Amino acid sequence: MSRLLSPYRLADLTLKNRVVMPPMCMYKADIDACVNDFHLAHYAARAIGGVGLIVVEATAVEPRGRISMRDLGLWDDAHIAGHAALVKQCHAYGAKAAVQLAHAGRKSTCTVSIPVAPSALPFSSDAPFQRPHALSLEEIAEIKVRFVHAALRAEKAGYDIVELHAAHGYLLFEFLSLLTNTRTDVYGGSFEKRCALVCEISQDILQATRLPLVVRLSADEWIENGWTIADSEALALKLKSVGVSMIHVSAGGNHESQPLMPPLKPLYQAAYAKEIRTKASIPTIAVGLITRVEEGEMLLEEEFCDLVAYGRELLRNPNFLFYAAKAQGKTSLIEPSYLRAF
Ligand SMILES: Cc1cc2nc3c(=O)[nH]c(=O)nc-3n(C[C@H](O)[C@H](O)[C@H](O)COP(=O)(O)O)c2cc1C
Repeated sequence: MSRLLSPYRLADLTLKNRVVMPPMCMYKADIDACVNDFHLAHYAARAIGGVGLIVVEATAVEPRGRISMRDLGLWDDAHIAGHAALVKQCHAYGAKAAVQLAHAGRKSTCTVSIPVAPSALPFSSDAPFQRPHALSLEEIAEIKVRFVHAALRAEKAGYDIVELHAAHGYLLFEFLSLLTNTRTDVYGGSFEKRCALVCEISQDILQATRLPLVVRLSADEWIENGWTIADSEALALKLKSVGVSMIHVSAGGNHESQPLMPPLKPLYQAAYAKEIRTKASIPTIAVGLITRVEEGEMLLEEEFCDLVAYGRELLRNPNFLFYAAKAQGKTSLIEPSYLRAF
């Protein structure tokens, strides 16, 4: 029996299978940051392809939190209608929809704003990166509210799940690492204080909305004295205690050079998902160079994770799951209009 193709319960939701489309920025929004025809077609195609859970790309909670000028946003009520149309498309083809709420922090390349960060340390001395402004406590409080308001708009748009982007060296991850957070106030210094912002935002979103919350983490920073898998396990325990449902386990992204990065090979990040799942007893999503159905089945069978994300594979081939359905004689899972192609 296929584990990958069997349903999964997440809080009160049932995902029809365990295949996830992870968030992938398409840099296709106009300056208004609204969902447009490209996004509707792009996500609908993956929903038609049978993906159980679609996580919509990094969506900014405020204008200066965009990675680029072409990111999606949810900082304004004017953004809700486009997201609602996108969710409707996903649902029409049987996929559940999550949105990744994000703040780019010091990695923002927006030309209309100065990036912000826990400390005034640039990601790079080269363009397009700029030296960030170190956030004051008042500004941090405003950003927390921005995340909650964006989550409320996501709920209004009909999303099933919110994913919080605390990976890849964007704002929330910058707070976690001693290398990017040199603050001496309540948000810097000890492990507890560096974790405070992501825990508080998680808690606030969970209190304000009825949506299950997934947090995406970089399990390891791949640099000496940086954030480690042991730190991720400890943070996952904290997030679980505030009610976070699942950890989406990625890695890296906080530094231009990552000397301790493991070789890029299939499943190279999956062991982190297993470690966090085991040590923190919290469900995980594995991601990173997973391209084959057999790999996903193995990861589930050997309890590395609860869901499996296929990123670039879904960009190459939105219908790759239908080959698995065909191989297992489950032709009912293939979009009927495409049956003659399989
Ligand atoms: C085009 C592209 C855009 C991406 N954008 C995001 C993003 O918005 N948020 C995020 O957390 N990760 C992002 N990622 C990382 C993916 O979610 C995923 O973790 C990565 O591609 C590894 O998985 P894969 O080997 O299956 O592609 C992006 C990756 C790609 C290729």
